[in-house]
Amino acid sequence: MPVVLGIETSCDETAAAVVDAEFHVISSVVESSIDQHRAFGGVVPELAGRAHVTTIGPVVRRALDDAGLDPHDPAIEGIAVTSGPGLIGSLLVGLSAAKAYSLAWGVPFVGVNHLEGHLFAPLLEQSDLEWPLLTLLVSGGHSLIVLQSGPGQHEVLGETIDDAAGEAYDKIARWLGLGYPGGPEIDRLAQEGSAGALKLPVSMTGADFDLSFSGLKTAVVRATQQHTEVALEDVAASFQAAVCEQLLRKLRGALEKYEVRGVALAGGVAANSLLRAGVQQLAQEFGIVGHLPTMAMCTDNAAMIAAAGLYRLSNGDASDLSLSANPNWQLADVT
Ligand code: KG4
Ligand code: ZN
Repeated sequence: MPVVLGIETSCDETAAAVVDAEFHVISSVVESSIDQHRAFGGVVPELAGRAHVTTIGPVVRRALDDAGLDPHDPAIEGIAVTSGPGLIGSLLVGLSAAKAYSLAWGVPFVGVNHLEGHLFAPLLEQSDLEWPLLTLLVSGGHSLIVLQSGPGQHEVLGETIDDAAGEAYDKIARWLGLGYPGGPEIDRLAQEGSAGALKLPVSMTGADFDLSFSGLKTAVVRATQQHTEVALEDVAASFQAAVCEQLLRKLRGALEKYEVRGVALAGGVAANSLLRAGVQQLAQEFGIVGHLPTMAMCTDNAAMIAAAGLYRLSNGDASDLSLSANPNWQLADVT
């Protein structure tokens, strides 16, 4: 069966994957340079770019090996590569590699929007996905609520006006002296704390679907300065409750306004225990399917990029060699 090779290098993960024409993941390899960034409390673009340069070749090779393919295998019908948004130096490594393979193997390639890739992730684990679908896409770099009428058909209902949800987790973790990335550690601590310990505001209570986490971040800093006696677990639980309250309120509003058949989570923050439970509960309440992808599919990977590319290539959207990376490519601008 024909397959597409996916390549993802928009942030700190160097990833390659092979996906077949029926959206089955044949192989998926993810290498992260995160250990090099921990000491800095966030991804250092220069280090990430350099790591991609040394890792991209072996990672692609391993994805092909795992799929039982030779580099020139005629089964490879196309290449999909993230061309934005992301770190420019990192994007360029993946894009250059994709162009080189495309030329060498004589197959088309297509530049894929990273966020559209995330939207295709649930499709790889649940082929019986029903549309329309409402997706909450929350990661370290992005936070959006998207209405999808079908694969590749999306409308951004709202997005963060300042920090992304994961970014807020990482910044609060840093403030609390926890490691990077902060989300998993805060989530773990929160399960042992009391959410009522700190009084924190829930931002963006209007009827629109935009999000905001900057005010909450400031409120946590202020509250912890004023109430130094509050335990770390309780701070984590209070912060997590405020983040999820905002996200779930907005999702509920969107579910009330738009008739959909499923609700999905995507992005690294989709690993959050409270958020997953809340989305599952909303799905039950509205009598629709809740799609909670596995962690490997929530975080950055190349299978989701291959899936989006498969759709784009079958739509006749192949790119040409003049394509450049677009570090600020908005999902709303993907047509
Ligand atoms: O999608 P991702 O792997 O990378 C991008 O940002 O594209 O997401 C990483 C983000 C980090 O900010 C991390 O702190 C957050 O996801 N995260 C979590 C959890 N696990 C990861 N946030 C809250 N709760 C978690 N369990
Ligand atoms: Zn991502």
